[in-house]
Amino acid sequence: MPSGSRHSNKAPSVLIFDSGVGAISIAREIRRQIPGLTLHFGIDNGFYPYGTKSEEMLRPRIVEVASTMMATCEADILVVGCNTASTLALPPLREVLKQPVVGVVPAIKPAAAGSRSGTIALIATEGTVNRHYTRELIDQFANGHQVINVPAPELVALAEAKLRGEHISAADLAPVIERIFDAPGGDIVDTAVLACTHFPLLREELAAASPRALTWLDSGDAIARRVRWWLDELDITLPNTPDSSQLLTSSDDHRETILRAFSEFTPDYRSAVIPVRL
Ligand code: DGL
Repeated sequence: MPSGSRHSNKAPSVLIFDSGVGAISIAREIRRQIPGLTLHFGIDNGFYPYGTKSEEMLRPRIVEVASTMMATCEADILVVGCNTASTLALPPLREVLKQPVVGVVPAIKPAAAGSRSGTIALIATEGTVNRHYTRELIDQFANGHQVINVPAPELVALAEAKLRGEHISAADLAPVIERIFDAPGGDIVDTAVLACTHFPLLREELAAASPRALTWLDSGDAIARRVRWWLDELDITLPNTPDSSQLLTSSDDHRETILRAFSEFTPDYRSAVIPVRL
């Protein structure tokens, strides 16, 4: 039975878990909708990137790292801010954790419901595109629609580069844009699902590099609404302002880079990083 921390003195908090900066796209939406909630980040930088690794390697790793990080920061809710992890590891995470676990689901349902042409592009890591979970979502919610599968592992590294301050050009994105528009159905595609939490960080660049306008959908809004629902369910009252964020990492590698990327949530960032020993 999930339990909140309403009887403790700790500020109510969530831990947003990802392999890297994808957690930021989810965090921005939660901060916008629920400003008083303290956000902690659990970044498995020691195993980044997730999208190209096998399910056998990822599943136990995600459970071990996310549960260790939850024990370290004592958050009330775990948000798995990573499609690659969510589509694989939600059931075992829910088995080991007593707190609620909120997972990202690729926004296939709203994309299919909103598409006029009936053709949508699913842009994700290789892992998420090929996942049984994702295939089932498509069968359930986009039956009768044409879905263009666009594995785009290079966008993960490009989003990380953007957060390091690098400029991302249309030429950098051209291979992904071609994969969308040159595929069968690419002439009528009208909606793109950003099914990796790194990708909304490149939304403006992707829209600018596209030959025509698409609706770009992600799952940030749905995640934030689900967190709000759980806070009510757990009877958690929020303060007006959040506590400082903690940045938990699984490796000391690239410490400065990670700090800089998350600095919008960790202004007092010199004390924010907590390396988690596994
Ligand atoms: N942000 C992650 C996702 O939503 C994956 C990035 C990676 O490949 O590590 O899928």
